[in-house]
Amino acid sequence: MTGIQQIFPAGDAGPLTTEDLERLYAYPDGTGVRVAVNFVSSADGAVEVEGGSAGLSTPPDRVVLDLGTDLADVVLVAAGTATSEGFTGVKHNDRMDDRRRRFGLAGVPVTAVVTSSGRSLDPSAPVLTDTLVPTIVFTCESVSAGLRDRWSDAGADVVLTGDGAVDLGAAVAELQRRGLRRVNCMGGPALFGSLAEAGLVDELRLTVAPFLVSGGAGRIARGAGMDPARLELLSVVTGDDTLLIRYRVGDSAAG
Ligand SMILES: NC(=O)c1ccc[n+]([C@@H]2O[C@H](COP(=O)([O-])OP(=O)(O)OC[C@H]3O[C@@H](n4cnc5c(N)ncnc54)[C@H](OP(=O)(O)O)[C@@H]3O)[C@@H](O)[C@H]2O)c1
Repeated sequence: MTGIQQIFPAGDAGPLTTEDLERLYAYPDGTGVRVAVNFVSSADGAVEVEGGSAGLSTPPDRVVLDLGTDLADVVLVAAGTATSEGFTGVKHNDRMDDRRRRFGLAGVPVTAVVTSSGRSLDPSAPVLTDTLVPTIVFTCESVSAGLRDRWSDAGADVVLTGDGAVDLGAAVAELQRRGLRRVNCMGGPALFGSLAEAGLVDELRLTVAPFLVSGGAGRIARGAGMDPARLELLSVVTGDDTLLIRYRVGDSAAG
């Protein structure tokens, strides 16, 4: 038992098993790409404390984060977040290996990093150098060939999509072309905003953490803005005063 209980859809009152949670968080069968975006927010809407998300996380949040990674083909992350949160490539562990074996998933998830200017991604970053499989870097033509070569020398698989800014639609299509259709996006807010505005997000996995933090922190999405997209509640589970919410993302109201 996990100590996590289901609130919606209403079910048995007892705690969920790991298998129950896996059923909730598994990607649907099929061949279509599915982009799930994970965020933790304080109850008052902050996306970070002291520059990171760790101070907002709780044990149930980490359970669903692990489910997201374990059941994905690819972890998609903005270069800024990969750097500030010290991402490495995904590593093996017994829980993940067992889970992936049971779900028929190969190896470890690939990591894909997004940078338009290249400024947020140093070639020595652990997300490129400390990884079991080559990290994909989605970037664009305007980044110097010298920097792209240094990423490649660090082991990255550099993919150009766009001139001055990464074409996220093309990036997601490239993931699908490679058979990486279960996409687990780990943020950050600029990437989520761009993906949402481009209509590329299928599911939002939002943890509302039991903290008030005030201050000047941003929120989980940042960008030019969009017509409100309707969300459909898929599930709500809770443990340790934390709400773990899954929404299906619909079309924007004007769409
Ligand atoms: N609470 C949570 O769950 C959570 C999750 C993730 C991050 N965070 C927090 O969010 C903060 C980082 O946010 P951030 O403002 O740096 O945002 P971000 O979304 O991590 O974006 C930062 C950089 O990533 C690249 N990027 C983002 N969107 C892109 C796009 N559409 N196309 C191409 N490149 C893109 C850009 O790099 P270039 O400038 O190199 O082009 C951009 O400057 C940190 O404090 C982190 O802890 C919180």
